[in-house]
Amino acid sequence: MTEIDNKVAHLAIIMDGNGRWAKKRGLPRLLGHRAGVNTLERVVYAAKDRGIRYLSVYAFSNENWNRPSVEIKGLMKLFSYYARKKLRDLVKADIRVRFAGRKEGLPDSVIKAMDVAETETSDCEKMTLIACFNYGGRQEIVDSVNRFVKEHPGEPISEDAICSNLYMPEVPDPDLIVRTSGELRLSNFWLWQSSYSEFFFTSSLWPDFTPEVLDEALNTFNKRERRYGGLK
Ligand code: FPP
Repeated sequence: MTEIDNKVAHLAIIMDGNGRWAKKRGLPRLLGHRAGVNTLERVVYAAKDRGIRYLSVYAFSNENWNRPSVEIKGLMKLFSYYARKKLRDLVKADIRVRFAGRKEGLPDSVIKAMDVAETETSDCEKMTLIACFNYGGRQEIVDSVNRFVKEHPGEPISEDAICSNLYMPEVPDPDLIVRTSGELRLSNFWLWQSSYSEFFFTSSLWPDFTPEVLDEALNTFNKRERRYGGLK
């Protein structure tokens, strides 16, 4: 068990840099993604050990459809393969798995793997792992508004209305968002929920990210003063 005094309930990660990691080694990009999955596995257990209640990861964005089809197919395969292969370990570790994003457009095999993972882990309580897959923050807000308007025709849209129709209204907003690979942007991740999130950027490429860098992020978070628009 680690000594970190963790105050983060929801940690969100933009796992960036798999392609560059592979390129540096003269490998195909997909091997970078495969290395990225191994890192994700280590980070999932490290996060659980540190008492994080929700870990969300940006695994495939709405904009990732613009990549070459061979990479998209590879990511889909990798995703459904690992979603199945790691299930038993996740259940043993009491980790619940959920998916955020649009199901439309995803291959049936991926949707099936998601359904099985969500069902099999539905009673797990120690930590919730949220894989944002075919996810986009703008699309989530649009989906929320459309749902509200359909269910409450003619009613004015409020913050509460949008919040309660997001994909996972019961999940607290991310306290800390980590992005790897030195890029300094949000890229359509948790747009609504990130209003008061703290950010931690590291130059580590995602496959090189370690529990030690995670601890650095958590320690940095502890020194931040969150004012939510108010005064000290
Ligand atoms: C960004 O790196 C990473 C992605 C688009 C995919 C991340 C996905 C995984 C780690 C696998 C997810 C699978 C499961 C089972 C959850 P990049 O390709 O944009 O890297 P680059 O910017 O260096 O090109």
